[in-house]
Amino acid sequence: MTEHIEDNRVLSVRDVAMWFELRRWGFGRAGFVRAVDGVSFDLQRGEAVAVVGESGSGKSTMAKTILSLHRATRGDILFQSENLRDMDAHRLQWYHSQVGYVQQDPYGALPPFMTLRQILLEPLLINRVMNRSENESRVRKVLEEVKLPGEFLSKFPHMLSGGQQQRVVIARAIILQPKLVVADEPVSMLDASVRVEVLQLLKQLQQAHDLSVLYVTHDLATVRYFSQRVLVMYAGKIVEKAAVGSLLNNPYHPYTKALIAAIPDPDAANAQTFREVPPGEPPSLLNPPPGCRFHPRCSAIIPGLCDKEEPTEFEPEPGHLVSCWLYRK
Ligand SMILES: Nc1ncnc2c1ncn2[C@@H]1O[C@H](COP(=O)(O)OP(=O)(O)O)[C@@H](O)[C@H]1O
Ligand SMILES: [Mg+2]
Repeated sequence: MTEHIEDNRVLSVRDVAMWFELRRWGFGRAGFVRAVDGVSFDLQRGEAVAVVGESGSGKSTMAKTILSLHRATRGDILFQSENLRDMDAHRLQWYHSQVGYVQQDPYGALPPFMTLRQILLEPLLINRVMNRSENESRVRKVLEEVKLPGEFLSKFPHMLSGGQQQRVVIARAIILQPKLVVADEPVSMLDASVRVEVLQLLKQLQQAHDLSVLYVTHDLATVRYFSQRVLVMYAGKIVEKAAVGSLLNNPYHPYTKALIAAIPDPDAANAQTFREVPPGEPPSLLNPPPGCRFHPRCSAIIPGLCDKEEPTEFEPEPGHLVSCWLYRK
């Protein structure tokens, strides 16, 4: 086992890529979908980091790779300085007990023929952490934490509302007292009326248990409330990372600027109007454009550079990183 270095990092992601192989029927390999293509960041203990970006930018693939539901094509993922690559099946099972997963679709995430008691007991039984009565009291305690009544334990998932189902998913994600929770668009499939309360619950639990949370969302309006730092993803890459205030008040990347400009203004009469963000579409990840992947949509393009060379990471102000040629020294 690797020696554990004393630091506050719960997770380190180093140049991680996840490529899906596409096979053309009868002709073998057709290429790779470069869903995640070289991302790096750290997550500190108790820190909530948001991952934002349009649909198809690789957020879920990155989340699943961190959860070791996909095996990284390249790069290293370190959990408390232990490399996922070096974990055997037994150690990976332990890892899964340390990392909770809250999916987007709560009903799809819950086994339909199990009662809530069975659903919540399952991780405890798999990891054989406690005896029967301790398991029962842990199940009751966690149900209380997600603010569901004890009599729900004999119900099946379909008997619950979407918001209640998502509370069960959250309860299951934290029942083994993990260090890290990966929440992939945890409220985007819920009714607008319950989104806020489910997000508030997740925030409360994060603070109460000093959890590190990777909060994937395409809703930039919620990141100030939920997270301390933000990673902006575009076409499989992280194009900007910064503290939440710095990112929202002083974005550098043209893509981040466009995303922020498109946050609906809650006071405006047209708050519900859907705005395309920004004009154009993300590129194919099977054949991504050369240079900066955003250049075909960028209004600030430097010809001969942005369309040819991939930008490196610049630090226009301390702790605020952006991969864009506009900020080269
Ligand atoms: N299992 C898979 N096989 C092939 N391509 C996939 C698979 N899962 C995701 N992709 C592709 O990876 C890209 C990123 O998808 P995803 O990670 O779901 O993005 P996001 O969560 O940001 O919407 C998309 O082009 C998607 O089609
Ligand atoms: Mg997704």
